[in-house]
Amino acid sequence: MAQIKSRIFHFVIIIMLTCEIKTQISDEREFLVDRSKTGLTHFPKDLSPKTTVLDMSQNYIAEIQSSNILLLSKLKILILSHNRIQALDISVFKFNRELEYLDVSHNELRTITCHPPVNFKHLDLSFNAFDALPICKEFGSLNQLEFLGLSATQLHKSSVQPIAHLNISRVLLVLGDSYGEKEEPDSLQDLNTRSLHVVFPTKKEFHFFLDVSVSTAVNLELSNIKCVLSDNRCYFLDVLSELQKKSRLSHLTLNHIETTWNTLIRIIQIAWRTNMEYFSISDMKLQGQLDFTSFDYYTSLKVLSIRQVVSDVFNFPQSNIYQMFSNMKIQNLTVSGTHMVHMLCPSQMSPFLYLDFSNNLLTDVIFENCKTLIALKTLNLKMNQLKELANIILMTKEMKSLQQLDISQNSLRYDEDENTCSWAESLLRLNMSSNILTDSVFRCLPPKVQVLDLHNNRITNIPKDVAYLESLQELNVAFNSLTDLPGCGAFSSLAALIMDHNSVSHPSTDFFQSCQKITSLKAGNNPFQCTLTAHLDTNKEIGGILHANAFDRMLII
Ligand SMILES: *[C@@H]1O[C@H](CO)[C@@H](O)[C@H](O)[C@H]1NC(C)=O
Ligand SMILES: *[C@@H]1O[C@H](CO)[C@@H](O)[C@H](O)[C@H]1NC(C)=O
Ligand SMILES: *[C@@H]1O[C@H](CO)[C@@H](O)[C@H](O)[C@H]1NC(C)=O
Repeated sequence: MAQIKSRIFHFVIIIMLTCEIKTQISDEREFLVDRSKTGLTHFPKDLSPKTTVLDMSQNYIAEIQSSNILLLSKLKILILSHNRIQALDISVFKFNRELEYLDVSHNELRTITCHPPVNFKHLDLSFNAFDALPICKEFGSLNQLEFLGLSATQLHKSSVQPIAHLNISRVLLVLGDSYGEKEEPDSLQDLNTRSLHVVFPTKKEFHFFLDVSVSTAVNLELSNIKCVLSDNRCYFLDVLSELQKKSRLSHLTLNHIETTWNTLIRIIQIAWRTNMEYFSISDMKLQGQLDFTSFDYYTSLKVLSIRQVVSDVFNFPQSNIYQMFSNMKIQNLTVSGTHMVHMLCPSQMSPFLYLDFSNNLLTDVIFENCKTLIALKTLNLKMNQLKELANIILMTKEMKSLQQLDISQNSLRYDEDENTCSWAESLLRLNMSSNILTDSVFRCLPPKVQVLDLHNNRITNIPKDVAYLESLQELNVAFNSLTDLPGCGAFSSLAALIMDHNSVSHPSTDFFQSCQKITSLKAGNNPFQCTLTAHLDTNKEIGGILHANAFDRMLII
């Protein structure tokens, strides 16, 4: 009997199941040819007439001729971005009746010659050397057009007329370096698009009067905004002020900004007074002083997101900034990638539902004794300088609605002697991965937690007498030093266990006896000596589903 048992035990095997979902259903009608980055200087002559998608981006092609693509009658998508094409004659495509996607962005185009028949859905002419907008009157018949990428150094209202009646989902307009000498501020007023992205010239002080308040636009993105010369005379503030009149605008995104602290605060305040709901700023360089004046906290804005900010050495009290952020009357606030070292507790009951302060330099004193974050549901403090878990546990005590907390990628440890365990009872998802936590972490966990991520810590054993976590469904303890599979005595609902990259060699039977509800187990990269045959039910959901029943059968033998 013992022999049989051991023989059976010698069955192998792989509990680790990586699953590959085959999404690629090959569609016979598509014929893809990728000749990108192959050093081409001319159109290749050996292309199959069956080609439907042709990528020749990042080469040195200077010219497209009709003879090059005449025979590619099935061609639908042609990508020629990052080449050296100087002139484009749309009539070269007159025999490519299926062509609907043409990307000639990032070339050296100065001229375009038009021809009616092509029915583009996507036409990208952005990042080229055009002076005037490359919009010909023939574009007026592109009824299918969903995306139009343009570039120019001069804008005229009349240039937009041919497409004013089209309803284009997205328009990208890249303004060349010499833009701004002669301007017609209302040039874009007749554009009819839901999303407009304007890229201003790089490295140039913002001296433009361009009214970007396109009446149909719901999303507006503005890139390259440099306003550093004077706090008071930043023309960009006037551009933004125009947006206050537009009621359809819902999302505003600013990126690549170089400005002063004072101008930033003005930008935020102007955005505050529009009707939009989402405002994001990313990739910002700040300089100068903050002369803090009063800040008007009330707004119809719901979401503010600020990411990737570098600032000169602070030579003014930062508490003004923290005070401003913490008292904002909005639902969702992200301040991430900013070197921020602290955040204050809101001085009144706060409407924050979601706070993402990941990737900063915050320490354990954040929101210490803070009783005003009562609506907060999600808090992300990933990638900061948190050290003592006990402080974080105490912090959550006053957050009566907190459901999700991410404190992964810090240096958190949990002191054995700590005897207060005051996790917010409402917590459902807790991510403590990539810290330096040990077995003691199991002595104090949120009582209703459903998903617990503890991967990449220093856990060697899950103690048997841990707090009873009846709601725990998903436990990730991968990349620790565990020598055994856990028993489920304390985790009666556990359905998914991830424990690959540990040191389990001889799993004890407790796991198989007590973990009846497990439907998914990932335990690869453990030095199993003898184990478990896994009967896989590959039909079920994402692979890696292992039935506890299969284990039972084996163990009975
Ligand atoms: C443009 O088209 C979209 C969808 O195709 C539609 O939702 C939108 O109302 C249209 N806008 C205008 C101004 O016609
Ligand atoms: C705020 O963030 C939460 C969590 O990600 C999200 O569910 C909610 O939709 C966001 N609110 C708004 C107004 O987008
Ligand atoms: C926990 O955070 C890490 C990154 O810090 C992420 O990779 C992981 O997916 C998160 N776990 C859960 C359960 O969301």
